[in-house]
Amino acid sequence: MERELKKDFVFHRDFSKTYPIITHGEGIYLFDEDGKRYIDACSGAVAANLGHGVVEIAEAMAFQAKKAAFVHSMRFETDVLFQLAEKIAQLAPHSMNKVYFTSGGSEANESAIKLARQFHRDAGRPEKHIVIGRWQSYHGNTFGSLSAGGDIKRRQVYTPNLLNFSHVHSPNCKRCPYQREKEDCNTKQNWSCVRDFESVVLELGPDHISAFIAEPIVGSQLGAVSPPEAYFKEIRKICDKYNILLIADEVMTGFGRTGKDFGIQHFGITPDIMTFGKGVSAGYAPLAGMIVHDRIVEGLIQNGNGKFVHGYTYSGHPVSVAAGLSVLKIYEREAIVTKVQEAGEYLKQQLLELKKRCPIIFDVRGEGLLMGIELAVDGDKGTPFPAKIQASERINHIAMELGAVFYPGSGSLNGHLGDHLLITPPLTVSRVQIDEIMGVLERSLQIFIEELKEVPPYETTK
Ligand SMILES: Cc1ncc(COP(=O)(O)O)c(C=O)c1O
Repeated sequence: MERELKKDFVFHRDFSKTYPIITHGEGIYLFDEDGKRYIDACSGAVAANLGHGVVEIAEAMAFQAKKAAFVHSMRFETDVLFQLAEKIAQLAPHSMNKVYFTSGGSEANESAIKLARQFHRDAGRPEKHIVIGRWQSYHGNTFGSLSAGGDIKRRQVYTPNLLNFSHVHSPNCKRCPYQREKEDCNTKQNWSCVRDFESVVLELGPDHISAFIAEPIVGSQLGAVSPPEAYFKEIRKICDKYNILLIADEVMTGFGRTGKDFGIQHFGITPDIMTFGKGVSAGYAPLAGMIVHDRIVEGLIQNGNGKFVHGYTYSGHPVSVAAGLSVLKIYEREAIVTKVQEAGEYLKQQLLELKKRCPIIFDVRGEGLLMGIELAVDGDKGTPFPAKIQASERINHIAMELGAVFYPGSGSLNGHLGDHLLITPPLTVSRVQIDEIMGVLERSLQIFIEELKEVPPYETTK
């Protein structure tokens, strides 16, 4: 235990660690109390999409706080609420026109799970209540969202409390859980991951299933893995066949991060509910929510008296919403989606070049500025590092010493093994800054490889 328990009054995220104390930020950089500079190469938790210290957003929040900092959404609404909802609906696929606000992504997914249930119940389908999620996907840490998610390590402690939801594998062609070859799947138009979903639906009974939830591109759990191109179209067909709502979790992929307004737009389908968070306020205020398809809203109005039996004190908080509105205006003015496409392409090229030089990179993947690398003891052969080496954590630790922070993750192979790093800088990142990020990344990997020489060989493969 590094930390002295009696030294402070904070219930820390991890009492075995000490964290640098940040005094301020500017652009893609954060500065700690000793004046040390960190490149925020992961936008915090893929949230700080406009970087740090944007005065315009701070002023918009202060302006709203002075006017009306809080109103209760069961009694009042505000002008900024209408403005932000309209802007979000304009970005969303056609027919998704109503926006419900929460404070965080877990609450957003919790709301989506409840709305799916209420929608079916009100329509006379009371048995429909099970959500099917996917292994190695993350939807949040509240009980409903944790139950829908498939992050084994986060679920384990709470297994007895979790809801009786079901899971299928996330498609991950490079490490196909069904041992299929991508080309073979595509030629035969027969994706095991899709068929498995239908089998689970039939096994549980379609009458019991309310929704299927998935991240369009899997972020923290798989390290930016996209599904095969046809995956979501096939999933949509099955959902339609059995009257199952399709929830796209856009908490990480939304608002330009992947080079489109929403991640699902890479796959040409319209979900029934899209949840969002993080990028909507670029981390300046707790803000998230869901965008709901017209037919769900119509169902709620016709069959349920228009009342969604749910809500939070801070739903549509005026200061958070003002932050979101200011952020979306900046995204629009700065043509951020186009910038992400260009910067993302450059970052991907640099990572692919790095892979040629670095013997422990197994894969480079992602879209836009949601990029990931997967690590392996023997590079292309793909042997994972033993979990106890904590490869991605260690590399990130080295990077922080060198002055950059990435988003490490593990379990990409089977929930336990498999290490990856997300490289997700603010969407405003320049080419020069990408070069700077790549410099620290390469140096961190080199130092890690040097350290491995001290580890007995059997320890790296066991
Ligand atoms: C895809 C996804 N969904 C949901 C969440 C949960 O969001 P929050 O931490 O704001 O509750 C996250 C957070 O990382 C996420 O990446």
